[in-house]
Amino acid sequence: MLSYKELGLVNSREIFKKAFEGKYAIPAFNFNNMEQMQAIIQACVEEKSPVILQVSSGARKYANQTLLRFMAQGAVEYAKELGYAIPIVLHLDHGDSFELCKNCIDMGFSSVMIDGSHYPYEKNIEVTKLVVEYAHKYDVTVEGELGVLAGIEDDVVAEHHTYTQPEDVQDFVSKTGVDSLAISIGTSHGANKFTPAQCTRDADGILIPPPLRFDILEEVEKRIPGFPIVLHGASSVPQDQVAIINKYGGALKDAIGIPEDQLRRAASSAVCKINIDSDGRLAMTAAVREVFATQPAEFDPRKYLGPARENLKKLYKHKVVSVLGSAGKA
Ligand code: G3H
Ligand code: 13P
Ligand code: ZN
Repeated sequence: MLSYKELGLVNSREIFKKAFEGKYAIPAFNFNNMEQMQAIIQACVEEKSPVILQVSSGARKYANQTLLRFMAQGAVEYAKELGYAIPIVLHLDHGDSFELCKNCIDMGFSSVMIDGSHYPYEKNIEVTKLVVEYAHKYDVTVEGELGVLAGIEDDVVAEHHTYTQPEDVQDFVSKTGVDSLAISIGTSHGANKFTPAQCTRDADGILIPPPLRFDILEEVEKRIPGFPIVLHGASSVPQDQVAIINKYGGALKDAIGIPEDQLRRAASSAVCKINIDSDGRLAMTAAVREVFATQPAEFDPRKYLGPARENLKKLYKHKVVSVLGSAGKA
């Protein structure tokens, strides 16, 4: 059993409390490799933002769980070396079983998500409660989920959103003891969150997606006042990055994300954690494609992963400064 406290990590309790009171959101950035981790830490240290380093079960399979854990420990030391010890959470994203959550807790994670949202309500409560009971013994915080996001989530494909039912949240939170709750209000995973047919066009012909269901969020806030809410699927899918990818041989079609003004509004509410993965993938891919296309003789990985890391860092800084409002809060 390895406690996250020995690694210099923190759980999410205190940073969520401050985010709620200060009306901003903590960034939860997914990572699978060193360049992503470096970009996240450099950006958050320079902007003095707390950060959640988020690991999916796919990331664990890809990169190896032990390596990722040591990278998170390395991130703590790296931040200090860069000059500012920001609070860093190591979080399991979309844990799908008690065993996986337990394994992560035993290996030094400071926070886990148990995503029972695809189960019937009672089963979701049962598995979430089990994880909470184990996690809280070690002061690890737990995120649960109610409602299903449209698109792909945990290998489960849902054609439509099943919005969170506000009348369930109080019961779910009190019966499970979770520390935060992910809800479904119209976001979804990946780079294709809306079809053009679902959008309207503004005067410049820019596609405007349907707004998030802030009415549901407000109902949830009324029923569990002060409780930290989490937004998954919150990438904005920057169109300049999509354009670079497509200019240099990519084939991304109908890539549409959540407008940043919607996320700013969410961040100033009870939403204390905003998950961003796809935007980082786009930024990395755009930079790599550009190097491959413009410098075809280049074959040193540092010459394309370096620019990818720079582009990622720029994106993360933009998120914490201009979207989530977490800059300067560490
Ligand atoms: O919610 C999903 C995250 O974007 C992680 O994606 O399972 O492909 O690592 P992944
Ligand atoms: P995006 O695909 O919108 O980046 O969402 C990521 C996420 O929710 C990770 O859990
Ligand atoms: Zn997610």
